[in-house]
Amino acid sequence: MSIGVFDSGVGGLSVHHKLVERFPKADFVYLADQANTPYGGRPGEEIVELTKAGCERLFAEGCSLVVLACNTAASVALRRLQQTWLPGYRRRLGRPVNVLGIVVPTIEAATGLPWAHEAERLDDKVEKVDVVGVFSTPATAASRVYEIEVDKRRQDVAVFSEPCPDLARMIETNAPREALAAAVAGHVAALKKRIGRNPDRAILGCTHYEIVADLFGQALPPGTPVIHQPEATAEALARYLAQHPEYDPGDGGSRRFLTTGTPGPQNGLVETFWGAPLLFEAAQPVAAVQKI
Ligand code: DGL
Repeated sequence: MSIGVFDSGVGGLSVHHKLVERFPKADFVYLADQANTPYGGRPGEEIVELTKAGCERLFAEGCSLVVLACNTAASVALRRLQQTWLPGYRRRLGRPVNVLGIVVPTIEAATGLPWAHEAERLDDKVEKVDVVGVFSTPATAASRVYEIEVDKRRQDVAVFSEPCPDLARMIETNAPREALAAAVAGHVAALKKRIGRNPDRAILGCTHYEIVADLFGQALPPGTPVIHQPEATAEALARYLAQHPEYDPGDGGSRRFLTTGTPGPQNGLVETFWGAPLLFEAAQPVAAVQKI
């Protein structure tokens, strides 16, 4: 068995990288849905269908768990798939499989509280509000998942989202660094204007943005703490696997990289981030690889 990591494109490699560091012996299959990237401007129903298809491909490759590294997929589709599709799919498959997302670990990191924490409605006036800025795709921002989930748990933390419509596509297509720096600076300035001041902390709420995390660091006021999703996700997965031995992560240390788009090497920006050449195989149709 193995662990699947899903993203609309190469952004999820930022999460995959930390998972591999944390679980060097586990077997990993990464799937980039590059035929359909970017997801961030798509209608919700399309994101749900594409995410389901991605999970099916990874389970057909023998994964026991799929980590939806993609914020857009996790924010828009995960709950729907867990409620309406996964229970029946699991029964048909006849083995334990599950889909985990990136939102839960991010909320835990942002609030400092476990996901299951029940918020107490405090009557006392909140003295100081910690303002967290979230940079994300338009679909993630429209879901308001970070605002809603933080608000359930912490009255003294306020979330402001900044949708960045073109940034994931620019990273996916290896846009020049100056263009990326200008786009990032524009989004940081727009967020500051919306809040009326600088955020106290920031979340890079799209996997692609980790690849240009240094540009966010330059555009944000010096020293602004940034919550990094890859680290938070690796920690959360370690806790999950310890509590759920039924999900076998494998122990062969294998790494496979699949794409629904054009197989072969990835763009320079991504390879620089990864630190080595990356060759992607063509993702085969589910029926051709079914290992159940
Ligand atoms: N990398 C994805 C995310 O974390 C989405 C980028 C896109 O496809 O628009 O949201």
